[in-house]
Amino acid sequence: MIDLRSDTVTTPSDEMREAARDADVGDDVYGEDPSVNELEARAADLVGMEDALYVPTGTMGNQIAARVHTERGQEALVERKSHVFKYELGGFAQHSELQVRTLDGGERGIPTPEQVRAGYVEEDVHRPGTGILTLENTHNSRGGVAIAPEQIDAAADAAHDLGVPVHLDGARVCNAAVARDVPVSRMTEQVDSVMFCLSKGLGAPVGSMLAGSEEFVERARRTRKLFGGGMRQVGMVAAPGLLALDNVDRLADDHDNAATLAEELAGVEGLDVQPPETNIVLVNTEDAGLTADEFLDACEDAGVRGTQFDTHVARFCTHWDVDRADVETAAEHVRDAL
Ligand SMILES: Cc1ncc(COP(=O)(O)O)c(C=O)c1O
Repeated sequence: MIDLRSDTVTTPSDEMREAARDADVGDDVYGEDPSVNELEARAADLVGMEDALYVPTGTMGNQIAARVHTERGQEALVERKSHVFKYELGGFAQHSELQVRTLDGGERGIPTPEQVRAGYVEEDVHRPGTGILTLENTHNSRGGVAIAPEQIDAAADAAHDLGVPVHLDGARVCNAAVARDVPVSRMTEQVDSVMFCLSKGLGAPVGSMLAGSEEFVERARRTRKLFGGGMRQVGMVAAPGLLALDNVDRLADDHDNAATLAEELAGVEGLDVQPPETNIVLVNTEDAGLTADEFLDACEDAGVRGTQFDTHVARFCTHWDVDRADVETAAEHVRDAL
């Protein structure tokens, strides 16, 4: 079975398993785990922020950011197909008591400065006030598009002019940086905080990083404890995370494999394939007369797994457990399935 459901399905390398076994550890709630401390310092450096916090999941990182940046009862301005809106169980409402207002970021999922200004709500006796703008890069539901740093800057500047802090859901921001051929820190220059995942294309078994100013991270650390994420000898999983930080350049291989997969699938009658910019390939199945679920069931019977994204949209995601030969085989299986 060639598993292209997500870049989260990878299993840790032997090197990562050894690093976990041999990790220097301590009680991280006391700030005494050397592996975590090193990971946080290196992660902050990667994204050009003062400090960073190790969190178990990307979801927790995004949720902590919302809680720290906002006050209860404010509005969160989010893109209508963003992960924080679609796939985090309405967490902004549950954890931070925020009302969510959606913007339509179009095909690339990035709001323009005008849209940010139009979506902004000024606090008064009737209205709650906007407490946060969240952006996403790469944008998962828009097909892993790598948003240009200038567009992130422009949206963030518009929010800052209105006094609104900006959080970047950068679960795959390293993919975006590689695709745009810029340092990861260029992607985060104008945002106040960023979350990025070690457990996706970078290949770690667990973990994400939440970065921002020293003051932000200090508050985030308290909020992580509040959310039940204060861990102890967590260097056991931070040590593979340190190795994951060395894998940024390797993401280019996943992007090449996604491009190969897309080219092959584009030749299959009935499939409309969005040319990928990173490691995500979206396939529209409508012309084949199939729903995405029907298509994916047939693919699975033929030996390839993907995920359903919309009624007629399926997603295939490349990662370090698949190589070029695997994606070529996967494309053949999909052709057979149809
Ligand atoms: C864009 C984006 N943000 C956040 C997350 C959440 O990460 P996690 O699964 O570690 O909670 C994901 C996971 O797929 C994602 O794709």
